[in-house]
Amino acid sequence: MSLQLSHAALLRGQNLIGAQWQPAARGERLDVANPADGATLTQVADSGAEDARRAADAAHAAFADWSRRPARERARLLQRWHALILEHQEDLARIISAEQGKPMHESRGEVQYGAAYVEWFAAEAVRICGDIVAEAVPGRKMLVLKEPVGVVAAITPWNFPLAMIARKIAPALAVGCTVVAKPAEDTPLTALALVYLAELAGVPAGVLNIVTASRERTPEVVDVWLADSRVRKITFTGSTPVGKHLARESASTLKKLSLELGGNAPFIVFEDADLDAAVEGLMASKFRNGGQTCVCPNRIYVHEAVHDDFVERLARRVGALKVGPASEEGSQIGPMINARAVDKIARHVEDAVARGARVVTGGKRVRTADGPHYYAPTVLIGATPQMALSCEETFGPVAPIFRFASEDEVIGHANDTPFGLAAYFYSNDVRRIWRVAQALETGIVGINEGAIAAEAAPFGGVKESGYGREGSRHGLDDYLHLKYLCQGQLD
Ligand code: SIN
Repeated sequence: MSLQLSHAALLRGQNLIGAQWQPAARGERLDVANPADGATLTQVADSGAEDARRAADAAHAAFADWSRRPARERARLLQRWHALILEHQEDLARIISAEQGKPMHESRGEVQYGAAYVEWFAAEAVRICGDIVAEAVPGRKMLVLKEPVGVVAAITPWNFPLAMIARKIAPALAVGCTVVAKPAEDTPLTALALVYLAELAGVPAGVLNIVTASRERTPEVVDVWLADSRVRKITFTGSTPVGKHLARESASTLKKLSLELGGNAPFIVFEDADLDAAVEGLMASKFRNGGQTCVCPNRIYVHEAVHDDFVERLARRVGALKVGPASEEGSQIGPMINARAVDKIARHVEDAVARGARVVTGGKRVRTADGPHYYAPTVLIGATPQMALSCEETFGPVAPIFRFASEDEVIGHANDTPFGLAAYFYSNDVRRIWRVAQALETGIVGINEGAIAAEAAPFGGVKESGYGREGSRHGLDDYLHLKYLCQGQLD
């Protein structure tokens, strides 16, 4: 896949630290691969400890000025950034598709989705309000201010290389924090382009810094930020084991943390559901980004009374999905992120079949003109809790169907996981809707709806899916702390 852009300067290969785009201090380079075949697309800086330190120095130096700027000025800057993202959306979508493998129509959607967070937080920037507490003692005033926490380290995943970094950087900048960012090693180009647009929008030097690093060098970068007491917050989207590591290691400097971690989302179709709507919702939530999202259904529970009907309708739709190169208009399922991802999907399907599941459609690797890292959209029936795909995130286009007989039984299964990010269910019984929505142990519940993410809603999990919320009016809180002022002698 080639990367032809209208605005070639969006393709960056260096770190932005302070006012300077610069190579890694050690001069090392990291290959960025085409996910379809692993071939090198281009290279970026492979950064280490020295680069991480310089980025933290720059962010720390910029904080005093940035945090004191009027909220309206920060908001205007975010508005300019938003406008530039939209102006360059076609190029940004091309970069996303090239390095991540989403089909172009989804990449365009991701640009809109990420831009919406920037627009949202531009508006929220001017609505940060504290409290004046009712006087408890005559002659004493008690006030609560909200202040930016300081330097924020944003560590972002490969599956939404634009939206995930936008929804971390935008609230941080909105409240007056400065940022050091490290995008995933698989997808650094989108993040670099986004930061370049922020620079064009006028974000002052040092307010937003980015370093890129390989899988091997990433721990070096992150360890510097973990140990640096000037970095007051870490915001991370990624796996639960890495989230736990960050929580443990940031304890020595007691940083504030937002962790958006793994999921194992149940999708429940009750016997009273509108089956067409349920199929539609499952198509939207399961096959978005080829099933490579933390919120996509991993376990699909269908009531025995509607099981066969539902499976037939679903298999028809899934079997018709077009697998193809991300750059090709009309592709619906692009390549997986790399060969390891395809191997994991194949292992899950093989394990399920060995334990008694049956493939209704798909169930095999696919090679396209672009390369071998594809997997056919798959429906499996006869899934059971003993299968690997029931307890591990498959992160691929595989829909395993579990049959159930009662509401209590399915709630038990749905909650029988350490994860708690998203859940979905379809029912037309209003009493059941409230019962089930309250019984599900997740941060997000889709009720008769498969497309749940939006800038206006709080995104985040419970249990081992992490803590903190991104988006919505709550999304600023993670970047703020409260300062209580008590003034006496006023009578
Ligand atoms: C994720 O997969 O981590 C995020 C997906 C989303 O924002 O919808």
